[in-house]
Amino acid sequence: MSDAHHRAALDTAVVGEWFVVSTTARIGVTPLRTRLLGRPLAVWRDPSTGEPIAAPDIGAPQRYRAIDRYGYTWVSLAAPRRALFTLPQYAQPGRRLIDCGAFGVHTSAPRVIENFLDMGHFPYVHAGILGEEPHTEVKDYAVHEDENGELWATDCAFWQPRAAAAADTGMDVDYTYRVPQPFCALLYKTSPRMPAERDVIALFVQPLSEVESRAHLLMLLFDDEHDNTELVSFQHTIFGQDKPILENQLPKRLPLDVRAEVSTSADAMSMAYRRWLKTKRLSYGVEVTSSR
Ligand SMILES: [Fe+2]
Repeated sequence: MSDAHHRAALDTAVVGEWFVVSTTARIGVTPLRTRLLGRPLAVWRDPSTGEPIAAPDIGAPQRYRAIDRYGYTWVSLAAPRRALFTLPQYAQPGRRLIDCGAFGVHTSAPRVIENFLDMGHFPYVHAGILGEEPHTEVKDYAVHEDENGELWATDCAFWQPRAAAAADTGMDVDYTYRVPQPFCALLYKTSPRMPAERDVIALFVQPLSEVESRAHLLMLLFDDEHDNTELVSFQHTIFGQDKPILENQLPKRLPLDVRAEVSTSADAMSMAYRRWLKTKRLSYGVEVTSSR
């Protein structure tokens, strides 16, 4: 699709939002070239201050907003509508902070987020790891929007044969999902080695265009046994299983009309996410008509 098409499709729900475009470590004085919301983007560091700089290109007079936070460089194309969401676990002593890399996916950012929020596919797509037949039931859970406008699913529980690299046996795993902004989601799940704590898995989706995404994955874990390669490899296995499923979902833009796809009580978070995007009047990467 043409750049002009994407420019036309931009809406106020995304132009003032923060997006991850890279790990902070990858941004140096030599510009990194990528795309964001259908626009070309160059990101580099001011050699004297070390601050990140983002612009359509190195010679362009226009500057976007750029900040380093949680190990990533975030860019907003217009004045940010609010401060970036909080992630206190990032600074918690004892947690391993592991960047699992960025996965290219040929689908919309909302499709990637919705898949991340869906427990129902675990026994089928991640058999032997995040789920296993006959443990296919998604028990009822609670969904709410908090005072900051973030979307939460709480009291989720699922039986998992190997919930994390650190899990030796199958276990009932407690899940909490948090969607602080449309294209970012966090998962807080039982930490196999630290029962009083939750491991955090963060998914920050960079929309290259409406139907092309880069999924940046961060883990904040308690695990003193596995090395980074083993922990990253675990997530690569999971994402490798999700990628072909995601790329085969049609339409690639997420339909916000909840009647467009069959829903069950297991889909409560997916339905809530679509309704939440609708109330934000998001149009980027979604289908807002019910004509299909
Ligand atoms: Fe999955």
